[in-house]
Amino acid sequence: MTEQQELTKIPSSGRTRSFTSFIKVYSIIFFLFAITAIQLKTSFQLTAQNNDDIINSSNHRILQMESTPTSMTIKNKMPLPDAISSFSENDTTLATLLQVKAKLIMTKNSLEKEGETNQLNYDDTSIRETSESIISLIKDVVSTTTGKTSYKDLLLTPESSSILSDTATSNVTSTYQKEVKKKRKRVTRAFFGIMTYDSKDEQKRRDLIRKTFLSYFVDHMNRTLVSDEEHNEKKHWICSLNDLDLGRLEYPEKCRIAYAFVMGAGNPDGPSMLLNFNESYPLSLPPPKMETKSHRKDALDTVYLNIKENGKFGKSPTWFRYAIDVLERHGWTKDWDYIFKSDADNLIYTPNFFRYMDKLPQKRAVRVFGGRPLNYEGCGGDSHDHCKQMVGPVFMAGGCYFLSIDLAKFISDETTFNHTAVKLPHEDMTTGNFVYSHPKKIRIVKEPRFKGVIRTHPVKTDRKFNQRWSKMLREENDRLTSWKASQHVNLTSS
Ligand SMILES: *[C@@H]1O[C@H](CO)[C@@H](O)[C@H](O)[C@H]1NC(C)=O
Ligand SMILES: *[C@@H]1O[C@H](CO)[C@@H](O)[C@H](O)[C@H]1NC(C)=O
Ligand SMILES: *[C@@H]1O[C@H](CO)[C@@H](O)[C@H](O)[C@H]1NC(C)=O
Ligand SMILES: *[C@@H]1O[C@H](CO)[C@@H](O)[C@H](O)[C@H]1NC(C)=O
Ligand SMILES: *[C@@H]1O[C@H](CO)[C@@H](O)[C@H](O)[C@H]1NC(C)=O
Ligand SMILES: *[C@@H]1O[C@H](CO)[C@@H](O)[C@H](O)[C@H]1NC(C)=O
Ligand SMILES: *[C@@H]1O[C@H](CO)[C@@H](O)[C@H](O)[C@H]1NC(C)=O
Repeated sequence: MTEQQELTKIPSSGRTRSFTSFIKVYSIIFFLFAITAIQLKTSFQLTAQNNDDIINSSNHRILQMESTPTSMTIKNKMPLPDAISSFSENDTTLATLLQVKAKLIMTKNSLEKEGETNQLNYDDTSIRETSESIISLIKDVVSTTTGKTSYKDLLLTPESSSILSDTATSNVTSTYQKEVKKKRKRVTRAFFGIMTYDSKDEQKRRDLIRKTFLSYFVDHMNRTLVSDEEHNEKKHWICSLNDLDLGRLEYPEKCRIAYAFVMGAGNPDGPSMLLNFNESYPLSLPPPKMETKSHRKDALDTVYLNIKENGKFGKSPTWFRYAIDVLERHGWTKDWDYIFKSDADNLIYTPNFFRYMDKLPQKRAVRVFGGRPLNYEGCGGDSHDHCKQMVGPVFMAGGCYFLSIDLAKFISDETTFNHTAVKLPHEDMTTGNFVYSHPKKIRIVKEPRFKGVIRTHPVKTDRKFNQRWSKMLREENDRLTSWKASQHVNLTSS
């Protein structure tokens, strides 16, 4: 509790000028460190014991942040001014750092002001150095979270309340808080179904997909540019839906894209769409054959729908039905946001794709239909008979689109509307028609328009697929390199 002793030395209002100002400034910095350090500990303790009491014990705004477990992946590496743009729900530490930064700026400003009036030997570098040492101290605190310092006691000293209630400081802090709140959201999570079928070429394509965009975080992320912590976190971001469903994952909660290859189960007499199933007629079947090594590999991440193989009508709605069934069986409908349907000739640029996912409407978003919208003209207009049968103003191009959970449930529920009446011989138009059979307004989310930013479709040959993937890796490398170069605390830039 040496920090607390420091605090008691702060002169409350005596204006003994220069010397006291310095003491004050550094005490504030020290105090900030103490707060930060203890808050970090608290957030770790909360993880363990979920202690509401600590949060409720003080009503200061600094405490109003949700104390969520802190993943230390990104924030230690971020230059503070830029850090806020990638703020996420669990980045309590980052929010704390931002507050420290805000207060350091205030401190610097008042120091400058004092300097003007009192010819103090003010030096910007000392502030920067101090802030850097605070950050390194924070890192130390994070790595040794065993101490039990009394958070409450420290905050409730008269000195601490007077510093914390400083109007200008509070203003800056609350501005940051607002910004932080705006940015805070649960990370987006999605099921991702890749439509494929049983053939040699498709099998090769599945392997290529597994080796490229599905394994980006495990195998392709440049480990010299990314910390072990970040790698250890992100390697869980993509998982096989089967592994998730069957409880084969060590950290299921870390998975953000649960993918599955989706095939017909080789049932030529089956229906082309199956929305109504039961014990004697299940929605999916076990892998049909396991003769070769590749078949066994497929079995791990492939869903075999109990339908007759087809690419035109019924497979996608059955996939959505399947995904909803998994979510409902496990009680997960609130933990996941979207269900994607993708073709096997769709190449995803994983890091950009996650950045895109982070920007999608969150959790409570309902009736979201996302992808590349095609309107009547985009459909082919008057020259294309089926366009006249579009139920809504648009549909999403079939290469890759997604639905919010509620909407996926709606279109794959046999009782909600007459599916046969609005079906067309085109998969994507049919899904569009199903979506617009909803009586309420649909929320369209367009993909970024520049081609190739988050994905390219179609990529027919494996050569093209590999080329584009390598190009993406180079671009991501450049991005990471320049980001790394910019890492320093730059207080003057705010
Ligand atoms: C703390 O506050 C929250 C929200 O105001 C409340 O739901 C909770 O019961 C409180 N916990 C305690 C221990 O007072
Ligand atoms: C607080 O900050 C806002 C926005 O920067 C500013 O307009 C306002 O005057 C500030 N209020 C006080 C009390 O400093
Ligand atoms: C990883 O990044 C380093 C530093 O920019 C670079 O030298 C190296 O070639 C990269 N490795 C790969 C596999 O891209
Ligand atoms: C954030 O914290 C919650 C609550 O403990 C946890 O369930 C969730 O998985 C965490 N999210 C991430 C991305 O770590
Ligand atoms: C089970 O589902 C199938 C396919 O929808 C249907 O044909 C069959 O009548 C159902 N059986 C029972 C007992 O409900
Ligand atoms: C659904 O639509 C089809 C085609 O328009 C029609 O033949 C069928 O009778 C309809 N079913 C119901 C239950 O209305
Ligand atoms: C800090 O940022 C400002 C404005 O962005 C820039 O002019 C300055 O050179 C930066 N300082 C350092 C040390 O990079």
